[in-house]
Amino acid sequence: MPTTLRAFAKINLGLYIGPRRADGFHELRTVYQTIDFCDSVRVSAGPGAGIEIRCQNPQVPRDETNTCWRIAERVMKALKQRRRVVIQIEKNLPIQGGLGAGSSDAVATMLGLERELGLPLSAHDKLEIATAIGSDVPLFLVGGTMLGIGHGEQVLPLPELPPMAVTVATPNVGVSTPKAFADWDALAASENAALTPGSVASRIDVFSRSMFVWLAGSLSGVPVKDRDRAETPLLDFVRAGIENDFERVVFPQYPELREVKRVLEREGAKYASLSGSGSALYGIFDSPKPAEQAAAALKAKGVEARASRTLTRQEYWKNLVIS
Ligand code: C5P
Repeated sequence: MPTTLRAFAKINLGLYIGPRRADGFHELRTVYQTIDFCDSVRVSAGPGAGIEIRCQNPQVPRDETNTCWRIAERVMKALKQRRRVVIQIEKNLPIQGGLGAGSSDAVATMLGLERELGLPLSAHDKLEIATAIGSDVPLFLVGGTMLGIGHGEQVLPLPELPPMAVTVATPNVGVSTPKAFADWDALAASENAALTPGSVASRIDVFSRSMFVWLAGSLSGVPVKDRDRAETPLLDFVRAGIENDFERVVFPQYPELREVKRVLEREGAKYASLSGSGSALYGIFDSPKPAEQAAAALKAKGVEARASRTLTRQEYWKNLVIS
């Protein structure tokens, strides 16, 4: 019996890029949040050998460059197993969209294979394998609201944001993450030369201060008048002024993405941002209704969009396995 899992997407609630490190990655800080928007991944392990990827979407590679292939190979090696592994991906999430689709598909493959083989990997092995596949793969081993540090691969649970309505826009544009980082380097180099405030070296510090403002508000426990209690964590987050640095290099190249953010704001989003290096953007709303209206407004402008909601850690794990 094959195992079918949901590979949920993530959004980045703020992303701060630090200097390029000796290993070529950039030090970064971000808050990851899983959302209820997913691919589905069906994994089977039968007699024989080799890995086969099936997917209707012609943009999805079916060879060893696919993250599902790469992770399956490592899982089989770690568990010292030889089987014919077939991975069927039903693609709903955008490719190069900044929603972590390829990374989430990979984790679904690893968890599905564990079930298929009836052999659990140690937590240590799972983390090591996930990190080898990509910077934003480990987050899908945690789910919910998370702090991402290092090059994004070190993930720690944060106080959970309550479920919130989000609209996710998926414009028909693919953004290359390595190129976006290179563009950030070029921008940072020119800004550092001019000694402007907010230069790249200080972005990590700015993030820490914003996080403090957010968490201090959320954790103080002091009741604040005139505020709806359920809304408070989101308002605290917005007040902290969290930003995504990639917007500064991606928006000038794709002005239509800046326009999508404006539409989300005009439709009443409490917070709107690019996710990761894009091209997906999201808006967070007070309730599902305006989120649906925002999705409709974007669609009317020819931009693919859908209303969704954030997923807490508990919901993420509860809904992961379909069968
Ligand atoms: O880890 P992942 O495969 O997603 O990274 C793709 C590329 O993006 C890296 O090879 C690197 O060029 C760039 N990157 C980076 N800093 C990070 C994450 C990724 O420079 N924190």
